[in-house]
Amino acid sequence: MTEFQRPRGTRDFGPEEMARRRFVEARLRSTAELFGFGEVMTPTFEDTALFVERSGEGIINEMYAFKDKGKRDIALRPELTAPVMRFYVNELQNRPKPVKAFYFGSVFRYERPQSGRYREFFQFGAELIGAPSMESDAEVIALALWSLESIGLKDTAVRIGNLDILKGLLGNIGITGEDQAACRRMIDKADFEGLAKHLDGLGVDRLKQRNLMDIIKTKGGKEAIAEARQLAGADIPGMDYLEGMLDKLAVYGFEKCNVDFAVARGLDYYTGMVFEIDSPCLGAEKQICGGGAYQLAELFGGETVNSTGYAFGFDRLMLALDNSGAQIPEPGLKAYIVPMGEAARMKALEILRMLRTANIPSDMDLMGRNISKALAYANSARAEKAIIIGEKELAEGSVTVRDMQSGEQTKYPMSDVLRGFLKGIF
Ligand code: HAM
Repeated sequence: MTEFQRPRGTRDFGPEEMARRRFVEARLRSTAELFGFGEVMTPTFEDTALFVERSGEGIINEMYAFKDKGKRDIALRPELTAPVMRFYVNELQNRPKPVKAFYFGSVFRYERPQSGRYREFFQFGAELIGAPSMESDAEVIALALWSLESIGLKDTAVRIGNLDILKGLLGNIGITGEDQAACRRMIDKADFEGLAKHLDGLGVDRLKQRNLMDIIKTKGGKEAIAEARQLAGADIPGMDYLEGMLDKLAVYGFEKCNVDFAVARGLDYYTGMVFEIDSPCLGAEKQICGGGAYQLAELFGGETVNSTGYAFGFDRLMLALDNSGAQIPEPGLKAYIVPMGEAARMKALEILRMLRTANIPSDMDLMGRNISKALAYANSARAEKAIIIGEKELAEGSVTVRDMQSGEQTKYPMSDVLRGFLKGIF
């Protein structure tokens, strides 16, 4: 007999974990709706080419890509921005702008699994398509931060960068084209040693290198922008923009946003503003969200539009919530009915039907267990009350209601069971 294990980098989720995940998902969903975003869903697999063009080297090497039986090149989606933009170009382009879409779904990346890094994981993301860039960028960052508040995740840090600034800085020291892209990738990975080596190889003098490093390592609020301006000695395109963003975000109620010129993002489709959010309690895999402004519609045959979006790594949000001890209500049963004997079972079924019809989460013993074992099960199902129907109760038309927390037991007429739950008497 073969015993199967789930594939590496995947997970199974039990009922308790699923209840917690659904609770957080529902909060994210309602926050997106609060901001006027509507849900979209796209296929789990797409033509490989959709991701090859602009998703960047990293992701392409990590894709689950294969030929299907019709010899088509297919890939399990490694992210949802390209699919949503394909959908937008195919079908949503003629809608009044802006189009505000959110999604929740599984994505697949062939990475080395570790805590917080999986081969199948879930993203909750949003894309705002067709509004002016400053407005979209601020709205999208505000939605991300609002969402984190809505799920009660504290101690997070947002870092906002701007690729125009990074490009300007690299351009000023003569780095363009593929070399510039290579430098940005190293900056994204915080590989400053590699960057120095690369710049040495390109003959960039050490003083200029030092100046570049100093600027890209500048982080903080508005003062960091002033400092970077001073270090650059000239105004770099994109600085005013970042400053304006911080002002807008403050009006949204998010005063503590920081700039970080080293945010470069691993995906190649980003154009201007880019941002990441970390939850430091997660250690190495602390990035819980990434996003920014990008251009993909024209690449997929559509008209050029501004678009900005982000995706939360949903699984990392769950880990961060666990680590920070945030309270997520755990759903359980209101009532667990314990009948003793066949006649009582029929009565139990009647009561069960009545409670369920009134939307009261309830269950009954299906195993014919004795009372103590049945109560142990009720406990594991986090039932609030056990309703015991023994021979005596059956004979007198009553039930014994046991409070599962205190162990207190009270008798009530059977006809009062529904009223007891509805009126909160039990
Ligand atoms: P991304 O940064 O590649 O961006 O992924 C978004 C988030 O997914 C990350 O911040 C991280 O929390 C989570 N994540 C990434 N890889 C893994 C993994 N192997 N296991 C668990 N979680 C992971 C995007 O995917 C863009 N599409 C975001 C975007 C939307 N940009 C514009 N619109």
